[in-house]
Amino acid sequence: MAQLWGGRFTKETDRQVYEFNASIGFDKRLYRQDIAGSIAHVTMLAKQGILTEDERKAIIDGLISIQEDVENGKLVIDDTCEDIHSFVETHLTSRIGEAGKKLHTGRSRNDQVALDMRLYTREQVCMTDALLKQLLETILHVMEENVETYMPGFTHLQKAQPTTLAHHYGAYFEMFKRDRLRMRDIFQRMNYCPLGAGALAGTTYPLDRDYTAKLLGFYGPTLNSMDSVSDRDYLIEFLAALSMVMMHLSRFCEEIILWNSNEYRFVEIDDAFSTGSSIMPQKKNPDIAELVRGKTGRVYGALMGLLTTMKGLPLAYNKDMQEDKETTFDAFDTAQGCIQLFNGMLSTMKFHKERMAVSAMNGFTNATDAADYLVNKGVPFRDAHGIIGRLVLYCIEKDTSIDALSLEEMQGISDKFESDIYDAVSLKTCVEKRLTVGAPGPEAMKKVIALHREYLAQEEDWFQKQDENI
Ligand code: ARG
Repeated sequence: MAQLWGGRFTKETDRQVYEFNASIGFDKRLYRQDIAGSIAHVTMLAKQGILTEDERKAIIDGLISIQEDVENGKLVIDDTCEDIHSFVETHLTSRIGEAGKKLHTGRSRNDQVALDMRLYTREQVCMTDALLKQLLETILHVMEENVETYMPGFTHLQKAQPTTLAHHYGAYFEMFKRDRLRMRDIFQRMNYCPLGAGALAGTTYPLDRDYTAKLLGFYGPTLNSMDSVSDRDYLIEFLAALSMVMMHLSRFCEEIILWNSNEYRFVEIDDAFSTGSSIMPQKKNPDIAELVRGKTGRVYGALMGLLTTMKGLPLAYNKDMQEDKETTFDAFDTAQGCIQLFNGMLSTMKFHKERMAVSAMNGFTNATDAADYLVNKGVPFRDAHGIIGRLVLYCIEKDTSIDALSLEEMQGISDKFESDIYDAVSLKTCVEKRLTVGAPGPEAMKKVIALHREYLAQEEDWFQKQDENI
């Protein structure tokens, strides 16, 4: 039970209390950030004349050796220390002696943990952005190849109007693009350094907070020391953004599950991304899509959990805040794993294009176009709507489709129908004529795809540029 405190205590901590209080089991993943923060801190302390050059050098060498030993397995982060901060400091002092005890000058674990979490989360934001970018590349590739792959578009899960696969995927491109913008936005808002806030009220040492912030790649220091140690907004924002990513993935998964069902058979999920049944030999299940859909709940849970943890906390630091880690880390891992696996599934999935086109033709998806045809012949839209309604009813009774009717049958309902109706309601025409910005008409679609290509090329290095400062 190695602790950094104890001077004012007369009794040992109860074992169960120690375990209940300890965070080493989960904050050990912050060791790199903790060491990086300490290196920046002592560099600044030496520049300010608070530590000597020799002390600075001894501490930094010691910290680097700890990091190396953790990474090469020589030093295991076990539970003998209560948290990662104690672990690093205890090992530093045992390695370099007296100088190690000066590391914590002008610092509290409150600003230390605030920094570690921020550094870690900043990295996660960048990684999530990179994964989303890969997903967008996959989506755009499918779009480019499928500008004329017809499929039904749905409302209320009922066939509505024909569209294309490029158009359908394009909707998801927009969603994940917005998710990336949210990453960037979060990065910009969170990229300020809390180190130097002390326990809550700064310190009396002449710290150069601008300098520490710069060393760690932040835009600058945070401006209120109480807020610095008790702000977890950036985590909540990131969890909210990840929840949104998961919601988008989950919707996409739901569609893939439907498309993969025996009834639709629009897609074939690659064998590497499906699983079988232990009893039913014919089964090939979309487990990955179902799991991604299912894991959405965990990420939402982390968001709700942290919001709830924070809601009643008085300023400044309270131990409740230690609860910002476990479920948050789980949400980071879950969301990133889901984006990666989903991307793998998507990039290997095959489409049954014939079936999709046949499905797009059935179900009166061309009824709106038939009404528009009558409008072009001078019939007011509301009347045209009524005429086509009667035509559809006639088709349902005869178990046929609009384009399969004879001209005489159509003229029996309205004398405005002429032989050009067949071309007007063909699948190709129905899609091709939809040329408004954002519509599935191939010419309109190609323009949007070109914009997306440009966006992906341009956006290439925004985070990289930030990285250069980090
Ligand atoms: N393990 C603690 C946390 O995660 C570190 C900060 C401890 N600060 C304190 N005053 N006990 O929040």
